Amino acid sequence: MRILMDERGKKYMVADQEFHTDFGFITKDDVVGSKAGDVLKTHIGRLFRVIKPNVNDYIELMERKCSIILPKDIGIVLAKTGLGSGFRVLDAGTGAGATALHFGNIVGNEGKVYSYEVREDFAEIAKRNIKGFELKNVQIKHQDVTEGIEEEELDLVFLDLPKPWDVVEYAKESLKIGGYIAAYNPFIEQVQILQRVLKKIGFSEVESFENIFRGIEVTNKGTRPKTRMAGHTGYLTFARKL
Ligand SMILES: C[S@@+](CC[C@H](N)C(=O)[O-])C[C@H]1O[C@@H](n2cnc3c(N)ncnc32)[C@H](O)[C@@H]1O
Repeated sequence: MRILMDERGKKYMVADQEFHTDFGFITKDDVVGSKAGDVLKTHIGRLFRVIKPNVNDYIELMERKCSIILPKDIGIVLAKTGLGSGFRVLDAGTGAGATALHFGNIVGNEGKVYSYEVREDFAEIAKRNIKGFELKNVQIKHQDVTEGIEEEELDLVFLDLPKPWDVVEYAKESLKIGGYIAAYNPFIEQVQILQRVLKKIGFSEVESFENIFRGIEVTNKGTRPKTRMAGHTGYLTFARKL
């Protein structure tokens, strides 16, 4: 797995094959024989840097047919739940597998991620994406998570689906004491229902957040927040089984 980056900073995921762009082509031998850090030259002399992709590079370029959670939001999930090596995570729905990739990347070979996806076509895309990033600790399951959670002793149940409250009872049974449930939802009405259900079922430390993320631009004229930003992505709700 490799990424080639051109002089404009544009990235391309490149398999073991001849590589063509508007900057000319690079032979298969050059591509296959390259390693991270090398600079390859096209037949017209344009330069491409070889990079070993990190999880964010990979997610940016992988196949997908639905929206994904952005680093600004997944970062809070990882930090707030204290996710680490050896943790057991349930992720639903999988979508293209971006959150499953982040979780798998963090929990390492001692940990395990089970990711439920109700749509078979999406589950197949996610399986290809997980395989492409060479993660062995993520299992994609073509299953409706509202019909139950098979796994036990989980550290985290993460839900990115329209009605997360349908899964709260199963999550409570499957989580370890001290484990977290976390959900990502675009609408405040979803947050209201979810918080009510979490409290009713006896979860502790129920909290919701929105992460407003604003870039800063540095120019010759001055430094200020960027005029364009993602105004809203989703709300994050957390609760703990204590
Ligand atoms: C927005 S996508 C998830 C994206 C994913 N978290 C990521 O960042 O890559 C929501 C997914 O949930 C799936 N889904 C919806 N309801 C589900 C259910 N009851 N069980 C499993 N998957 C479900 C949908 O098919 C869709 O692929």
